[in-house]
Amino acid sequence: MDRETPRLGTVQETLLIPLYARAVENRKELPMLRDARAAEIVAALDYDFARFDGLPSLTGALLRTVLFDRWVTDFLTAHPDGTVVEIGTGLNTRHERLDNGRVRWFDLDLPDVIELRGHFFADTARRTMLAASVTDDAWAADVASRAEGPYLFVAEAVLPYLHESDVRRVVDLLCDRFPGSLLALDTAGPGFFDTQEEHDALSKVAARMQWYCPDPAGLADWRPGVRVVASQTLTSLPGPLVDELPVSYREMLSVLAAQRLPQAEGYRLSLLRMP
Ligand SMILES: C[S@@+](CC[C@H](N)C(=O)[O-])C[C@H]1O[C@@H](n2cnc3c(N)ncnc32)[C@H](O)[C@@H]1O
Repeated sequence: MDRETPRLGTVQETLLIPLYARAVENRKELPMLRDARAAEIVAALDYDFARFDGLPSLTGALLRTVLFDRWVTDFLTAHPDGTVVEIGTGLNTRHERLDNGRVRWFDLDLPDVIELRGHFFADTARRTMLAASVTDDAWAADVASRAEGPYLFVAEAVLPYLHESDVRRVVDLLCDRFPGSLLALDTAGPGFFDTQEEHDALSKVAARMQWYCPDPAGLADWRPGVRVVASQTLTSLPGPLVDELPVSYREMLSVLAAQRLPQAEGYRLSLLRMP
């Protein structure tokens, strides 16, 4: 079979990092998550994934995915007919992992990503791909007209690549169009941001983060009423989630916690409630 050459813009290329992390994890005997679909997609792409082999941040990406999966599962337990919007979905396979047979799901990303995504995924009655920038109001109007709330927006490894003015725009857009909705996002603190040239995976691609955030609670200063529902670092993941990880990962996390590296401690995974 001919492999597909991904033709992606600079920031779009970063989607291949978490995709590869899930594909590699899928091969392990004791994985933290299974993702056969990611493995199939990696095999079908003509790209030098070997540059990411063995990088520690692949584990960080997986831990983030596992926590975001947990937040989506919790949301769907409370609201089985709710709406989930993956902002900057890349070649994410969360719907494959978590579909409950009732959720209304949207996968939003820039046009070149959605074009590539179309080679591997198809729309269904409950699942729709949207080609747009997250900063563009039109997608929000489209989602609001096609799907009822409650809404959960998942922006995994997306917003740090935007300029702060665009992140503010996204927060405003969600507050204005989807009051009461939830937003899962990750934020890089200054220690992580300032060392990105040496970051193991980012240094292998051209994209760079544009926005850092010392404290996600500060987003309430942008828009009063924004509330932090949960905020974790990779070394302070919820106990029940850590208990379900393979033992090798639990050991690795306790070593990392003891080191208290500023890069790791300043990287936060948060769930926000819009006013
Ligand atoms: C590191 S990847 C993460 C992909 C996916 N969320 C995952 O975890 O597998 C960053 C993604 O953000 C998307 N992205 C960046 N800027 C965007 C924008 N303005 N609007 C929509 N998506 C954007 C990129 O195209 C890319 O797919």
